[in-house]
Amino acid sequence: MMLLVFGAAPAQGPQLDYSKFLHNSQRHSSLACNSCHERADNSATPRFPGHKACTDCHRGQFTTPQIPMCMICHTDVSSSNPPLKNFPASFNEPFNVKFDHAQHNTGAARPPRGCAGCHNAPIQRGAGLSIPANIAAHNNCYTCHTPSSKSNAGREIASCGVCHDQKAYRPTSTNARSYRYAFRHTDHDARERLACADCHKLTAGAAQTRQVSSPTAAEHFATTRGMTCLTCHNGKRSFGGDLAFKDCKRCHTGPTFRMPM
Ligand code: HEC
Ligand code: HEC
Ligand code: HEC
Ligand code: HEC
Ligand code: HEC
Ligand code: HEC
Ligand code: HEC
Ligand code: HEC
Ligand code: HEC
Repeated sequence: MMLLVFGAAPAQGPQLDYSKFLHNSQRHSSLACNSCHERADNSATPRFPGHKACTDCHRGQFTTPQIPMCMICHTDVSSSNPPLKNFPASFNEPFNVKFDHAQHNTGAARPPRGCAGCHNAPIQRGAGLSIPANIAAHNNCYTCHTPSSKSNAGREIASCGVCHDQKAYRPTSTNARSYRYAFRHTDHDARERLACADCHKLTAGAAQTRQVSSPTAAEHFATTRGMTCLTCHNGKRSFGGDLAFKDCKRCHTGPTFRMPM
């Protein structure tokens, strides 16, 4: 077993299932992501590692004809220039995404358009704003995280492991409760002289979904200490509009709303 500790581990034996690559098997999980994944260019679509990422440890498998391992990356290996599959477009094993808002609100890490650099598409008919998601998120992140990019301190900030750990993760939902009370971002933008920072505060280093605070959907019975709809829709703040709504249906648009008896 001692032989397995470093570099040239011997062939792993025929009893293993070589038809499926696992990141979380013991040896693979001890390797840096960029020992296999190279970003040759700034393409959003990752590429398969080449043979040299494997052959130090798997020479035995690579010299066994018709081994299922070839089909992890190739569609067939009958020709001398066998075609590659498409790189998986979604996580098959648990991977998360690391991102800190406060870090990206200053210096070179702040997009020129600030928040709108990443949250730029209205969704749900203007109620919500998009969040970078799926493989297409790379197009956004890679505007700065290019293959040669470095942090202020000189750390590389390009490889998969900068943004992805082997941990379970659920993308942040864009189906917020406020939208059921007719809150819409398109009613709360620059035309109403509102900026993102009037409603959203950042906490550096906070956990996923807790980094950016939002006003709570509470109006009449507000008990929370933070900002709610009532903070502005209180009939006092003057924006030049009618912030004290008398028409209940402006917020209560749902089919189930009934006037209280
Ligand atoms: C020993 C080589 C190796 C290392 C180290 C490695 N990968 Fe991979 N990775 C692969 C191969 C091979 C595939 C294609 C697997 C497939 O299609 O089933 C892959 C696929 C992926 C995928 C596609 C979806 C999935 O869940 O498989 C993601 C995401 C990924 N790697 C991220 C990472 C990250 C992040 C790291 C570092 C924490 C890492 N990889 C380290 C070889 C490696
Ligand atoms: C540093 C040595 C090392 C490298 C590099 C390496 N492997 Fe492995 N691989 C192992 C070991 C050791 C095992 C046996 C499982 C274990 O003990 O972790 C293994 C197991 C496997 C298995 C069986 C399923 C699993 O993950 O347990 C497959 C398939 C595999 N490797 C494919 C690859 C491919 C493809 C590459 C290159 C992209 C690669 N390996 C690179 C050491 C390595
Ligand atoms: C981890 C992914 C991966 C695995 C596993 C893999 N290949 Fe490849 N293979 C590649 C890539 C990437 C290339 C280079 C293609 C390119 O650059 O266009 C390649 C190229 C080739 C080539 C073209 C000549 C050369 O060496 O560049 C042959 C032949 C080949 N593979 C056969 C195999 C066989 C046989 C197996 C199984 C024993 C295998 N491959 C397993 C990724 C893989
Ligand atoms: C600068 C940060 C960053 C780097 C570097 C990065 N990613 Fe991503 N990646 C993301 C973000 C953000 C998402 C969107 C996740 C979501 O949908 O919530 C993502 C999504 C993905 C997805 C799609 C996940 C899904 O289920 O929809 C795959 C596959 C992936 N990345 C693979 C990789 C691989 C492989 C590398 C290294 C070659 C890499 N990523 C490097 C930020 C990064
Ligand atoms: C570089 C891209 C980027 C920038 C700039 C950015 N965000 Fe985000 N934002 C994200 C991503 C990615 C997520 C999803 C994070 C996750 O699920 O891990 C997110 C999530 C959110 C959420 C959901 C709640 C939360 O805490 O995750 C809110 C609200 C939000 N952003 C508001 C803002 C505001 C306000 C700004 C400007 C101060 C801003 N964002 C700047 C990328 C960005
Ligand atoms: C406007 C440029 C820019 C964009 C867009 C951007 N980043 Fe960054 N990011 C940076 C810079 C610059 C740093 C290094 C900051 C420093 O020096 O501390 C960084 C640091 C990071 C780090 C911490 C790396 C470390 O080692 O400290 C993570 C994780 C990260 N970004 C994820 C993302 C994700 C995910 C996205 C896309 C949703 C993204 N970034 C979009 C510029 C950007
Ligand atoms: C008048 C207050 C207000 C302003 C101004 C505002 N937001 Fe929001 N934002 C909210 C509320 C309320 C929610 C939903 C919170 C909930 O119910 O969980 C929200 C949710 C979000 C989300 C989460 C994704 C979603 O659709 O659920 C993002 C991202 C976001 N805002 C970005 C921004 C950005 C970027 C700006 C500036 C361009 C901005 N917001 C301006 C109040 C505001
Ligand atoms: C930072 C202050 C602020 C907060 C917090 C805020 N609003 Fe507004 N809201 C405004 C302003 C300013 C307008 C536009 C001027 C006007 O119509 O009085 C507006 C307009 C509206 C409209 C009017 C659309 C129309 O023309 O009929 C609705 C509905 C609304 N807000 C609902 C909400 C809900 C629900 C919340 C809580 C989730 C909320 N608002 C939180 C400031 C705010
Ligand atoms: C600015 C938006 C807004 C306006 C205008 C508004 N409401 Fe509400 N209302 C809410 C929100 C948000 C809630 C969620 C519960 C809370 O306040 O904590 C709510 C909850 C309620 C509830 C509790 C039942 C439920 O659906 O959760 C009643 C009853 C109610 N409102 C009645 C009214 C009446 C009557 C009017 C008109 C006089 C009115 N509301 C005008 C935003 C509004």
